[in-house]
Amino acid sequence: MMTEAAARDTLRRALAEIGFARLPAAECFALLDVEADDWRQFADSWNNLGPDLYMADGGRYRRRRHATLFSEYGRIVRQSHQPHFQSRDYNPLNGDVQRWFDPVASATVENPVMPAVFRLCLHAFDPSGAGRWHIEMHQFRIEAQEGSSGRPTPEGMHRDGVDHVFVMLIDRHNVREGVTRIGTADGTPLGEFTLADPGDAMMVDDHRIFHGVTEIHAIDPRQPAWRDALVVTFATT
Ligand SMILES: [Fe+2]
Repeated sequence: MMTEAAARDTLRRALAEIGFARLPAAECFALLDVEADDWRQFADSWNNLGPDLYMADGGRYRRRRHATLFSEYGRIVRQSHQPHFQSRDYNPLNGDVQRWFDPVASATVENPVMPAVFRLCLHAFDPSGAGRWHIEMHQFRIEAQEGSSGRPTPEGMHRDGVDHVFVMLIDRHNVREGVTRIGTADGTPLGEFTLADPGDAMMVDDHRIFHGVTEIHAIDPRQPAWRDALVVTFATT
């Protein structure tokens, strides 16, 4: 097993050289170093997300909560609740609209998992620690129902329009497919993989890398099926 410092170095090198890094669950949990009970409560909060009413494709398969934070010299402060905005350049489907989502519960932002995620990301994205960051945290649940698939990224391959993105799988329940694809801005595929286990994560340099996730389908169409993910974006201010 790599030391923590070596694992962090590997992450930073991958981000610098190829613009993305995968973080398998075992490694991710080793770096986050959180208690199993805290993780359970954190993951459980995905059972209480409101519907996303802004889907331009009319879809009702996405639930979410959203929080905005600001970080300076590693000190992270939650901001008053505000809408999520992406320009149409980055999100042709749902862009150019201020979208209000339910706020992430305080207990979820303050759960030890989140400070650990912020620390892990800032180590990777801001090694000097001198940056000022606008951070957005998203809890997503994509549901597949009988006769209808769920689309984790209905806009297709995209950038988020920030500097860095962290994505972590929280849970997959009765789900097949949902393959993560990454590629360059000119459409060259760079790889595909499935965030399969809770804690499987990836980091991307949002300037160089496009990302997307294929549709999910229920394994047993008579049973509920969902894919839960945490997405945290970092933009310099
Ligand atoms: Fe994205």
